[in-house]
Amino acid sequence: MANRDLIGEFVTRTLAELRAHYPRPLSPAEELALIAGPIRQCRNCDLALTRTQAVPGEGHPRARIMFIGEAPGGTEDETGRPFVGAAGKFLEDMLADIGLRRHDVFIANITKCRPPGNRDPEPDEIAACTPWLRAQIAVIQPTVICTLGRFAMQTLIAPYLQISKAHGAATERDGILYIPLYHPAAALHQQRLRDTLIADMRTVRDILVARGLWQSP
Ligand code: URA
Repeated sequence: MANRDLIGEFVTRTLAELRAHYPRPLSPAEELALIAGPIRQCRNCDLALTRTQAVPGEGHPRARIMFIGEAPGGTEDETGRPFVGAAGKFLEDMLADIGLRRHDVFIANITKCRPPGNRDPEPDEIAACTPWLRAQIAVIQPTVICTLGRFAMQTLIAPYLQISKAHGAATERDGILYIPLYHPAAALHQQRLRDTLIADMRTVRDILVARGLWQSP
């Protein structure tokens, strides 16, 4: 069985078990909170040894758009919240530009814990962590997932993609539109990337409007 199928089976099983445990249907907000609990306690990989806090992700439990970055950085590790540093401020500015606020979307990362020295996460760390993200996606059921940066794009869309060619273009899979974007941290320091990212973010809005899917959650 392919790894993707295994992850799918794991997520379906654990979500079904979670749901079966409760006498009434849970709201997406309740399910996300129940998933965030064990994420904060997770010791499935060695990143647990060096993290200050895990960063489960945050936002609207029925967000139409999810933004997925690479991994928490220093400020995120300290606060337990995703994208709260300079890159997060830029992300919020771009959201405002297309008429959204931070709490209208859901923001998370490929790994929930900070890799030491902000190095790229290792394959075993990603394998240990992505079931959490898949479970969150299964609960939220977004229309669009925007990956932020090369790393999230190659993990969630396809490992061979080059961000310089793929950015801003939508790929549909399992009923979700995946749109790779440059990472806001990279764009902060390069005006050309900054302009491209702002334009791609407007493209995200335009794609949703064109499909009649532009609506508040
Ligand atoms: N960069 C990321 O990829 N994620 C964060 O949460 C912050 C910075």
